[in-house]
Parts: sequence; structure tokens; C-alpha cells
Amino acid sequence: MNNRLRNTVRGIGDREREVLGRTGGDTLGEIDRRMNTGPHAVVKNVATGLLLSERAVAGPRQRLLSTRSEGPRESASFADLLKRHRGRSGLTQQQLADFATLSVRAIRDLESGRVRRPRRESVGLLADALRLRDAERQQLHAAGGSPAHLRDALLGLPASSAPPALPEPPAPPGTLVGREAELQVLLDQVTVYGHRLVSVVGISGIGKTHLVLEAARVLRAKGWRVGWHASAGGTRCCGAHPAAGPDPGGPSPRTADPTADLVAAIGERHDLVVIDSGDASGPGGVDVGELLRRCPGLHVVVTGLTPRYLPGERVLPLTAMAVPEEAPGHDHVRLAEVESVALFLSHMRRSQPGFRLREDNAHAVVRLCRWLDGVPRALEYAAGWCLVYPPELLLARAGRDFSLLSSPAGCGCQDLLSSVARSVDIVAQSCRSVLAEVADRPHWTVGDLDHLVPDPAAALHALLVHGLVRPAGAHLPGRFTALQLVRLLHLRDRPPAAARAC
Ligand SMILES: Nc1ncnc2c1ncn2[C@@H]1O[C@H](COP(=O)(O)OP(=O)(O)OP(=O)(O)O)[C@@H](O)[C@H]1O
Ligand SMILES: [Mg+2]
Repeated sequence: MNNRLRNTVRGIGDREREVLGRTGGDTLGEIDRRMNTGPHAVVKNVATGLLLSERAVAGPRQRLLSTRSEGPRESASFADLLKRHRGRSGLTQQQLADFATLSVRAIRDLESGRVRRPRRESVGLLADALRLRDAERQQLHAAGGSPAHLRDALLGLPASSAPPALPEPPAPPGTLVGREAELQVLLDQVTVYGHRLVSVVGISGIGKTHLVLEAARVLRAKGWRVGWHASAGGTRCCGAHPAAGPDPGGPSPRTADPTADLVAAIGERHDLVVIDSGDASGPGGVDVGELLRRCPGLHVVVTGLTPRYLPGERVLPLTAMAVPEEAPGHDHVRLAEVESVALFLSHMRRSQPGFRLREDNAHAVVRLCRWLDGVPRALEYAAGWCLVYPPELLLARAGRDFSLLSSPAGCGCQDLLSSVARSVDIVAQSCRSVLAEVADRPHWTVGDLDHLVPDPAAALHALLVHGLVRPAGAHLPGRFTALQLVRLLHLRDRPPAAARAC
């Protein structure tokens, strides 16, 4: 329902609403008789199928519900209260859903008690649709779990000293390509298994923020109240998606303790908080363990280069997107469905709308996606550079011209090698030794690490979780390989051969 229509629907008189509440199976004539209007005055809303009276839009508004004698009953459950109000209004679930611009499923979930803490905005829409007075509204908000200071704010009462709520997560920056399995796992961890802390971990540019934004979107659509906190230490360029509003990243500092500020901003207002780029430690960093202790019902999803290593934490390592196999001839339709190729093509078409996979470029696109290990930001940069160099030429140059591993937009984003270096710096010294040893090899097994570190399996596990190495492929079971970016980093940082010989 668009805004204009919604306003029209909200503006119609109660008499019509009463009629609408009984329209099931009625003919137009019956409705006319009941409302004492001529047939010309009744129009059918194509979008909702509801019948609206044009004449009555300006008619008197008589309240259907009078709860004066009931007084506030904070103890009533939200489901009961909603059913009672709807019953009195005479609206069906479908009609209430239409008036409130919510889905009928949402109404059913609320009335059945399946969803007990609806989003504040949804409660406001329901209260509007049901034409509740202030006291009734407040009662509905209270039953839905909104804390008192927020209910005051909703009613326009003087603001209390409570800090502003966290911003809502911004919309994802575009369609999420692939990642269905990862998204489902993330959602299940929170909703099915009820885990309170899920860390989405991986190298910079692998798609952590995009994935959690999509998860937040899905959860909000299901009625979860989701807050967004972009850590002060996070990236603030292409990879950052600050929320709109005066305070994009989170609460303004009120105390010297960012965790306390966050706890105060969360209050009872959020079921889930997403902390993006939560690696920042020291001043400005959030103590996630403390946050979970002080907000007992809260779920937290945090993104970062490394896990938090907290009790009960569930870690979702985000690894590279699927890459195509190298083959002599490619079925272009199937090739375009491989995650990394699909993402690369979507970026290519932004700058070159006519770009298509063809005989003469498919092989280069395959090799480029493989060479870049299906890292989303690397694919994005490469597609940008393809305005200058066609894929095959870019592939030939990128291994020696490291400037091609930066954003072609010339923005302030870190280049890909500096980004991956941050992950290398985070892992333990033993892992770095392993990387230095294996970076150049095409693939290797855990057994090959035996002589390098005391606990090779643990070192390999850490490297996999941090996204610095990956399985070599289905055709090479048990074998692993370093990311191309890791390889290039070692190539760049390795002392020249002459110096090494000294
Ligand atoms: N599955 C995907 N579908 C479409 N675009 C994606 C996907 N994954 C990542 N991207 C895009 O790739 C870029 C990098 O992703 P993102 O910012 O989410 O990475 P990140 O892991 O959060 O990086 P950082 O650690 O630097 O914050 C973004 O432009 C993002 O929109
Ligand atoms: Mg990010």
C-alpha cells in the first residue's frame, strides 16, 4: 500500500470501518444500504480489495472503542489486547493488516502469541489502524515490551533522560549474490538455536557486512527489533555502510565507557544488536561479553577479522565465494550462475551495461575469478579496472602491478593487500610461520606442516577461520591452499633475492 493510499485509508470514517469490518460476502448494495450512501460513493481499492467510501472521507469520526472504564491494564498480554481491540473495531485480520500496512501473517503471529515483542513501529501502525487513544496506545506499547521512556516519546510526552535508541541497520547495499547457505546458518544460529553471540569472521572485503545487513533485514521483517552499531574502528569507505541520521555509527559517547553507552542505548528496545567491524579494542571498543551480561535478553551478531573467543560464541567463518572450474569449453548460462562469476558480472554491467560472457572472454573471466579467490571486494575492484583493461589483460598485469589491487575509484579504501595484511597480523606467530612457508605452494596437506609448528591442525584451523587459506578444491580432498592475496602479500614483502642470499 503506498503512502497516499495509506493516508486515505487512515482518514476514512469509523462508520465505514464498521461496515468494512462486516463486508465479508456482502454485496455493494448491502453496504450502500447500511451506510446510506449512493452506489457512486463507494469505490473499490484495487490494491487491497477493500471497499472505501469517498463521501465518508470527510465524515465524522466516532470512536469505535471506548476503554475508559477499563483503565490501563499493563498485565494483559499483547496478543489478548490486540484481539480485544480488533474485535471491538470489527475488523478482520486481513483488514487490520491492510490498514496497518502489515502482513496478515504478522497479525496472526501477534494474536497467537507467537511473536510477543513486536517492533515498536509495528505497534504504532496497529495503534493508528485501530484508532487507539493515548492511554490505549500506551497500554499496547507496554504489552509489546516498549520501555516506559519510549512510550512517553511515542506519545510526544517530555523526553526522559534516556539516551537515543540505536539506529536501525541500513538497507543492504544491493542484492546479496549467493551466500544462501551462510545466510541461513546465521539466521538459524540466532532464531532456531537461540545463540546469543554469533561472530561472522573473515578477511576484509569478504562480505561480512553485506551478509549481516541482509540477515538484519530478514529478521526485522519477522518482527525482530534490531539495532546497529558500527564500531569506531571499522572501515568508513566502500566497505562501510553507516546508518542514516545524525549518529550513523551508534550512540554518541555519553561516558568514557563505550560498552556502558551501548547498554544504555539498547535498554529494552532491541532484541538483537549488530556490531559491525567489532575488532576495535581499547578506547571506542565494545566489550561484547560485558554487553551480553548486562543485557540478559539480547542477541549480538558481530563482524570482525577474528572471533571474540567468548564463552557460548558461535563463529561463522565467511570464506571465499564459489569459483568456477577451469574447463576447455563453458556453458555460459551455467557459468554465470557460479557465485563469484555472478557477482563479477553484476559489477561489470554497472560500468559496461552491454558486457556479456562470450567465447572470447569466458575463459579470462573464469581465470580472473579463480585468481581472485572469489573475494567479493577483489571482484568489485577488478570489474572496475576492466573499464581500462579487458579481463585477460587485467589478469596478465594484476600479478605485477599492485596498484590494480586498489579501488579504481581512488577512494580512501584500503588496498586489498593492506586489508589482508591486517588479518595476517592478527593471527598467532605460529600461523604466520606456516603461511610464510606454504604461501608459494599450489597446495599442501596438514601433514606437510608437521615440521613447522608443534600443533599443525590447530594452526591450520586458525588460518581457515581467519580466511587466509582455503580448501584446494573438491578434486583435491584434504589439500589446502593460501589465498592469492596472501601469496601476493608475501611476494610484495619478501626481501629481494640478493638481500635474502646475504
Ligand atoms: N554476497 C554478496 N553479494 C553482493 N555483493 C557483495 C556480496 N558480498 C560482498 N559484497 C560486496 O563486496 C564489498 C565488500 O563487502 P563487505 O563490505 O560486506 O565486506 P567486509 O567483509 O565487511 O569488509 P570489511 O572487513 O573491510 O568491513 C561490498 O561492496 C559488498 O556490497
Ligand atoms: Mg564490513
